[in-house]
Amino acid sequence: MTQDRLGREWRPEILDEQIETDRVRVRELRADASIDVLDSLSDMRAELTKLVPKLSDALRDEPSRWIYYSWRRTLVATLGPLSFRRLRLDRNRNRITLADQEKLQGQRVGVVGQSVGHLVAHTLAMGGLCGELRLADFDRTELSNLNRVPATLLDLGINKAVVTARRVAELDPYIRVEVFDHGLTEQSMARFLDGLDLVLDECDSLDIKVMVREVARERGIPVLMATSDRGLFDVERFDLEPKRAIFHGVVGDLRAADLRGLSTRDKVPYVLRILEPDKMSAVVAASMAEIDQTITTWPQLAEDVTVGAASAAAAVRRIGVGERTESGRTRVDLDVVLGERTPPLAAAASQPPHSTANGATGAPTSTDPITAIMRAASLAPSGGNSQPWAFSINEGRFDLHLVPERTSTMDVAFRASYLCIGAALCNARIAAAAAGLLGPAEIFPAGPDGPVASLHLEPGTDPGLAAELPAMLDRCANRRPGVPAPLDPDPVAELTALVATEGAALRLLTDRAVIEDCAELLGQTDRLRYLTPHLHAEMMNELRWPGEDGLDTGLDVRTLELDAADLAKLSVIRRADVLAQLAQWGGGQVLGEPMRDSVRAASALAVVSMRGADPVDYVRVGSAVERLWIRAQAGGLGVQPVSPVFLYARGAADIESLVGTAYRGELAQLAEQFRSLSAVPEDEELALVLRLSHAPRPTVRSQRMSLTALLRPGSGRVPGLAADG
Ligand SMILES: Cc1cc2nc3c(=O)[nH]c(=O)nc-3n(C[C@H](O)[C@H](O)[C@H](O)COP(=O)(O)O)c2cc1C
Repeated sequence: MTQDRLGREWRPEILDEQIETDRVRVRELRADASIDVLDSLSDMRAELTKLVPKLSDALRDEPSRWIYYSWRRTLVATLGPLSFRRLRLDRNRNRITLADQEKLQGQRVGVVGQSVGHLVAHTLAMGGLCGELRLADFDRTELSNLNRVPATLLDLGINKAVVTARRVAELDPYIRVEVFDHGLTEQSMARFLDGLDLVLDECDSLDIKVMVREVARERGIPVLMATSDRGLFDVERFDLEPKRAIFHGVVGDLRAADLRGLSTRDKVPYVLRILEPDKMSAVVAASMAEIDQTITTWPQLAEDVTVGAASAAAAVRRIGVGERTESGRTRVDLDVVLGERTPPLAAAASQPPHSTANGATGAPTSTDPITAIMRAASLAPSGGNSQPWAFSINEGRFDLHLVPERTSTMDVAFRASYLCIGAALCNARIAAAAAGLLGPAEIFPAGPDGPVASLHLEPGTDPGLAAELPAMLDRCANRRPGVPAPLDPDPVAELTALVATEGAALRLLTDRAVIEDCAELLGQTDRLRYLTPHLHAEMMNELRWPGEDGLDTGLDVRTLELDAADLAKLSVIRRADVLAQLAQWGGGQVLGEPMRDSVRAASALAVVSMRGADPVDYVRVGSAVERLWIRAQAGGLGVQPVSPVFLYARGAADIESLVGTAYRGELAQLAEQFRSLSAVPEDEELALVLRLSHAPRPTVRSQRMSLTALLRPGSGRVPGLAADG
């Protein structure tokens, strides 16, 4: 077969054996020994069955086709058009939803010029961004095109539009293609443009460029153009702006007719105005002066052309699905982008820790008893390490105040804050007992507007409390997963009794089936927390990246004990736009996975509850929680609160204040299920849920604000603070 005969063929024959004439044709072709037959249909079908969600029977059982590529003398078995498209474009989801894929299939796109245009057309076809392509070029493929056009030696001498059409046919025989192998002329222009949704101008003739725009504007067709220098990309939305001047007005009211008979030299000023000489790359601008002298034409690299094709494909997709894509000019300049590199986030997070194993606070232990008491209070746990407290020392009293600004949505009615201040009071009492300064403690001694708690510092002690000092200083959240080995029965009885002495109740869930159910449930509540924009924002605002952020408040990401893969995931799920997208799809099951996995790895869940939901009740239960935490950790267990979003919600209005109307039903149901799983009766309030694990010590501990920052203005003098604060 000579190149001449085959050189014009580009249309694949699509043969359906359900049709008699096609069946005969397939038989003929298969009988021809000079024709290769390729059949990987069974692989395609196997791949089809693996798709999720499962395909309808109609799609799975769609009759196959034979495709005959005459220029390759090859017959290929393939899936029918619908299943073929579904499978070929499966990996476009969710970047392009199935509904949007459907829309894009309806697009008819013209591509004028088949050098850059070859890549553009092929990229559009590859992405499923159009259902029909019209390709124009009069020129033939030459060896010097192969630095940027992904044609091959086998294509040399063949019309460039034909070469593109073949590539498209070999990629997807079902895309409708028309070839204009005489290029575009005044005569063929209307036929080329009629009925198109978009046109890409990738030709190098100024006359044709102007004419394409004039005729496209008359028909309300947008024109896009990628110019392979510094990623220049133009969008002219003649569909939205029927009177818009061509080339954004830079060539005035130039018309195609004005160019007739002009020499190349006379056209130069227009070309330069379009290219904006002051913004061109120096190399290309200088090369302009060298054309025909030291170089044949202006230089173009494969990477430039590829970026242009990528911009074109993105614009065609955006316009096709109705995303904002206004008229104008932009530059996707790789030299600029690659010159502005920044280290990835994960690298910052994996920098060696600068606090040590004991370095929760990095604080020197104080010899001054009042400073030691304040420091002990500041070491109490708090949601997101928010430290919602401030301290003052007045007339022999240590007062703990609420700082309402450090609250968050989950801290409904400051219930969590009160609990934390209760824990801080507990720590202060332990330190005071150890210092022999333990007087009585009062909760809200001056009513709701005064301090939340006061500890009188006067001679006195409690040996039991004082003995807790080292374990209290050591207490920390341990987020390492651990292994789900059973708990020793002894500590269970001891912990339950301990919590009871503080007027609270402890339910230790140790049954594996119950833990599994709780893991699932807590995973679900975490998912809702991620998907609710303000809760997600608050959660992400708690994170601190060593090397970038101060670590005295919030959660140092290293304390989350994430491995490299989890850190990488975190850098994705911290993005509000990503979460909004998941919420829109009703997806994001994976968001609950870390919580599910960590609860599954626990040996027990400790559910602390109490009677009464007044602030004073939360302050009291705070002490119970702290004592439980200290003792459990001292007994060798890892302790980590796992707070469901509904933890501090009391009733429907609270639930709605957390997750809005979007998830209130779901969250209320989860809250109810949790109560029944954990067997907390209706007349008790949840205080905290903690996982107890057999886990190694945490890698890094959280730090705290300085005592000077925590001391209220006007507070009495604290000896020794200058040195410590
Ligand atoms: C009311 C409350 C809720 C908490 N919720 C969680 C939680 O859901 N997940 C978690 O990993 N840690 C939780 N924590 C632990 C805090 O993040 C931790 O106490 C704080 O970062 C200080 O660190 P430290 O306890 O290691 O000193 C909670 C703590 C409190 C007091």
